[in-house]
Amino acid sequence: MCGIVAYAGDKRAAEIIYSGLEKLEYRGYDSAGITTLSGGEFYTVKRSGRVCRLSKCLEDMRGATGIGHTRWATHGEASDVNAHPHLCGRFAIVHNGIIENYAPLKAQLAEAGHIFLSQTDSEVVAHILDSVYDGDIIGAVKKTCSRLKGCWALAILCKDFKGFIAVSRGSPVIIARGNGGFFAASDIPAVADGADNYCVLQDGDVAMVERDECKIYSAELKPVSREFMPVEREQYAWLGDDCSHHMLREIRSNARTIRATCQKFPLAAGGGLYERLRGADKIIFVGCGTAYNSALAAKRLFSGAYDAFIEAVIASEARYNPPAVTDRSVVIAVSQSGETADTLKAAEILKEAGAYLVAVTNTGYSAITRIADKVLPVCAGSEICVAATKSYTGQLACFHLMSALPDYARRKAELLKVADEAEKLAADELLSLRIAELCVSSRAVFFIGRGGDADVATEAALKLKEVSYIFSDDYPAGELKHGTLALIDEDVLSVVIICDECLAEKSKNAVEQILSRKGKVALVTTIKSVSDEFSGRVSAVWLLPPVPAHLSHFLSAEALQLVAYRAAVLAGRDPDKPRNLAKSVTVE
Ligand code: F6R
Repeated sequence: MCGIVAYAGDKRAAEIIYSGLEKLEYRGYDSAGITTLSGGEFYTVKRSGRVCRLSKCLEDMRGATGIGHTRWATHGEASDVNAHPHLCGRFAIVHNGIIENYAPLKAQLAEAGHIFLSQTDSEVVAHILDSVYDGDIIGAVKKTCSRLKGCWALAILCKDFKGFIAVSRGSPVIIARGNGGFFAASDIPAVADGADNYCVLQDGDVAMVERDECKIYSAELKPVSREFMPVEREQYAWLGDDCSHHMLREIRSNARTIRATCQKFPLAAGGGLYERLRGADKIIFVGCGTAYNSALAAKRLFSGAYDAFIEAVIASEARYNPPAVTDRSVVIAVSQSGETADTLKAAEILKEAGAYLVAVTNTGYSAITRIADKVLPVCAGSEICVAATKSYTGQLACFHLMSALPDYARRKAELLKVADEAEKLAADELLSLRIAELCVSSRAVFFIGRGGDADVATEAALKLKEVSYIFSDDYPAGELKHGTLALIDEDVLSVVIICDECLAEKSKNAVEQILSRKGKVALVTTIKSVSDEFSGRVSAVWLLPPVPAHLSHFLSAEALQLVAYRAAVLAGRDPDKPRNLAKSVTVE
């Protein structure tokens, strides 16, 4: 959700920042821009659309210091003029976050004669900086921030300072060292090529960064030190493989994610976690989108394992209508990025109400880890495709292990076996392609299943719609006949997931009901007899390896991730960067 990069060093800044922005495009790709500073002059280029539109304009951009931005539009359309950086007088800024009180600030500044060029909330920051500046840069930054409401990661250039200033308040900023200087960025991939180590700015921190030196101050402008950690480059280096898209590469990493999550779990799972869960009156999962969908599966897994009342809630709902919790309750916040604004807020509210907060996250240095009482890592590695795939799988693996505490060795062994099957499945091209073709030639696609298969259906419908833009929806199989069956005809595909022997007979009824209304059916099943019964009667059958029902979601979800990926490619979409979306949704 908007990415910022800044550099001060001994190399040309424009190319270095451009390369960083390319790596941050998953955070937004509505527009991009760079400003460099040389000899007290700014050189700026900004364009609507993708970062690559800047590539031909870098040559004339002088200077070894600069800032850059890739935007996910919130206030103001995606246009050249709304692209960052925003400039005013001696300042240029890039911003990730939202300035909630920008309208009254803008009105006051306009009355004082300031002329605004964009419709963004961010532009006010440059104008306030310029209006309060009296030669004391850090003082101007502090005064400016004290007038803002909302959240911001800022990188700022001032014509009177050779380096840049970085500020973090509710939106992430890392400072990294390497490539002949220092960087600031929204996330590590932006700097992973050139940086050796990095630290994470804490809430309110202001960093004054020059080529040879980085001074960090707290919000009160007291000098502070932040721990620098090595950049694990291999996590971010996408080696020359045969994957044309991050999405495919990441689906193919599902198996590795299960194994890595199993490996790290023991280190994190101690410290009384089991006792907390066993003694809990309520266990509440909270998350958004795919993270919420994985929480649905978690709810099912935990229901057989703990006596507590167990619920999964959507964070954007829970923040305004939080479930009642006590000091015996455990809240499990699920978030790949650890930065999703709704999840953070809901988690904060529930923690304040007394609950013990566990974060299940793929991002060890993220905001959720700073407020959680306990952090359980999902070890998916950096996920670049906007659509979550391997992080969903890692979340499932983590929930399995949590639900099998205290002695999870047997479950771990089961997970490692299923990882081997997932690895083989990811190599499949034919069946995913066949079902993807059916999706692309259909007016709408319904995903249906019962029990745990219904949870997979929910995630599969989200995955297909977000990357292919084909209308898709999900239903528990028994719900079709209560209304949605009215939509079934020969142009509508139903993807039916049947992986639970105990519920198979019931789900088969749903297939019959669809076929008798001339609907198209694609079947995804781990059960050979179900596959045999419907082969030749339905449009496609994907028989998955026969794993136990409680583990089947790893395979059925992966199969349908592959279907979504191939449908996107067949439909001519970019699966890595779906329209209107961005990864890490740091605004409400
Ligand atoms: C869908 C997707 C989103 C995210 C959601 C939460 O493929 O990626 O629905 O799952 O925005 O993001 P995190 O997990 O970062 O909190």
